[in-house]
Amino acid sequence: MLSTLQDLDLVFEAELPAHANTIEAINAEAFGPGRFTRAAERVREHSSHALALSRVAVLRGEVVGSVRLTPVRIGDAPVLMLGPLAVRPSFKKRGIGRMLLSLAADAARAAGETAIFLVGDRAYYMPLGYQPLPLGSVRMPGPVDEARILGLALVPGAFDGINGAVLPRR
Ligand SMILES: CC(C)(COP(=O)(O)OP(=O)(O)OC[C@H]1O[C@@H](n2cnc3c(N)ncnc32)[C@H](O)[C@@H]1OP(=O)(O)O)[C@@H](O)C(=O)NCCC(=O)NCCS
Repeated sequence: MLSTLQDLDLVFEAELPAHANTIEAINAEAFGPGRFTRAAERVREHSSHALALSRVAVLRGEVVGSVRLTPVRIGDAPVLMLGPLAVRPSFKKRGIGRMLLSLAADAARAAGETAIFLVGDRAYYMPLGYQPLPLGSVRMPGPVDEARILGLALVPGAFDGINGAVLPRR
């Protein structure tokens, strides 16, 4: 029985166009049909995720986990929106989610990005460095529990003064 990340013959790499169908299946399995009604999905309808910053976990040629980063802006500040993050159920709890988040943040930093935000569970993301953003500072294009809007500054102070609607980059 495989139990740790080290035991798995896993490769982490940038997302490729050929991964799209499997990622769609993983997200469908993780979030169900309701995923298309989420506010983050409204954002993604108008802005494409960046393949070069998005990461997949691949086991013997098959994607088993995925995280996507989408370039957007909050007001005038360029930021990345993270999501969806999902791991195939049989591969959960081996550190794949954490590794995907860490590698995506590294890729973003290397590309000169300064900030990542997401809508997600505090209990999962806060131990990984994400912090709640000031209530009301990020206006999503749809209903969202504002307490779940979290940010990771890739450079110190990256979220200082950020306030506004989440919109496509100009
Ligand atoms: C969330 C998810 C991506 C984590 O992937 P993973 O590879 O299992 O993550 P890791 O192995 O890095 O971390 C697992 C730990 O996170 C915990 N965890 C998972 N989801 C959590 C949540 N929503 N809140 C708090 N803790 C959570 C697990 O219980 C586990 O804890 P343990 O290490 O004490 O056993 C995966 O559970 C998943 O695909 N879930 C369905 C989709 C989803 O909810 N995505 C996140 C949107 S906010």
